Parts: sequence; C-alpha cells; structure tokens
Amino acid sequence: MTKLGWTLALVFALTTAALGYFFILKGNAFLGKDGRTAIVLTEEEKAHVLGEMRMLLEGVQSITGDIAQNNMDGVAEAASGLGMAVANADSPALLAKLPIEVKTLGLATHAAFDDLAAAAKTADDPNAVLQQLSDIMLNCVACHQGYRIAIKNVDE
Ligand code: HEC
Repeated sequence: MTKLGWTLALVFALTTAALGYFFILKGNAFLGKDGRTAIVLTEEEKAHVLGEMRMLLEGVQSITGDIAQNNMDGVAEAASGLGMAVANADSPALLAKLPIEVKTLGLATHAAFDDLAAAAKTADDPNAVLQQLSDIMLNCVACHQGYRIAIKNVDE
C-alpha cells in the first residue's frame, strides 16, 4: 500500500473505533451528582422508556398475584408480555444512546421474562417461580442503582 493508502486506512480505523466507542460502549451519558450515570434522552424517548418501566412494574405486580393464586397460565401470559418482543420494538436511535451495560442489562431482563414464561408453563412449584422472579428483579435493582435519565438541554 502507498503512504496515502496507509494514512487513509489508519484514519478509517480510528474513526470506526471512535464511533464504536461512542455509539456502542459509552452511549449518550454523563456521571450525575447523585453518583448515578445520567443517560441523556429527548423528552419523547424518556416518556417511552418510563412507559416501558411502568409496564414492567405492572407486569411484576400481576405475576406475584398469579403466583400467590398458583395461576401459572397467568404468570406465563404476563411474563411473555415483558419479554424480548418489548425490546425489539425500541428504536435504534434510542438503543444507540444507552451505555453498553444498560443495553446488556435491559436485554437480559427481557430475555429472563421469556424464560420465566417458559418455566411457568411446566412448573409444579410456585416457590421456584417466585425465586426466578426475585432473581430477575436483581436486574431492576442494579440498573436503578446505577442509572437515571436526563433530558437533553434541560438537565445536562
Ligand atoms: C437496564 C436498566 C433498567 C432495568 C433493567 C430496569 N429499569 Fe426501571 N428504570 C430505569 C431508568 C434509567 C429509570 C429512570 C430513573 C430516573 O431517571 O430516576 C427507570 C424508572 C423506572 C420506574 C419509574 C417509572 C416512572 O414513570 O417514573 C419504574 C416503576 C421502574 N423503572 C420499574 C422497573 C422494574 C419493575 C424493573 C424490573 C422488572 C425495571 N424497572 C428494570 C432503568 C431500568
């Protein structure tokens, strides 16, 4: 390769690495004063995420009630409503703003609800299902301890 060719290749590699860092690893975020990482979103994106969160809370409430009633069909239905199908509906623009740990934890949480739905269909011990829900909720706790949302141009 010519010197120019090497230079262009280097510039290309560095640009790719920088884009990868910002859009895949770092997301759009800064360390907030409360010690949590603040993810910078638009008003609409924040509303979308919080709507999804309230859906998670509602689903978890419904699952605990169904477990108490030993209604495993109810558990399976509520849990699959919180599965990967929800994550797949998120826009690529929003996903790009999430730091990699948040994407990983979020996707793992949705996948775990699909697993819970599958387990409920064959479960004969409600306590085992409750334990599985409790384990999933460690993800809720972990993410809320580490992250919050900031609105672009308002909280930055
Ligand atoms: C991958 C990260 C992540 C996971 C996992 C997660 N959340 Fe959240 N959740 C957030 C963030 C970020 C906020 C916004 C917090 C803030 O800005 O103070 C939030 C906010 C919420 C809210 C407030 C909604 C509102 O309208 O204000 C509820 C309720 C909630 N989450 C429930 C849950 C439940 C239940 C789970 C687990 C089943 C869960 N979340 C899992 C990141 C997550």
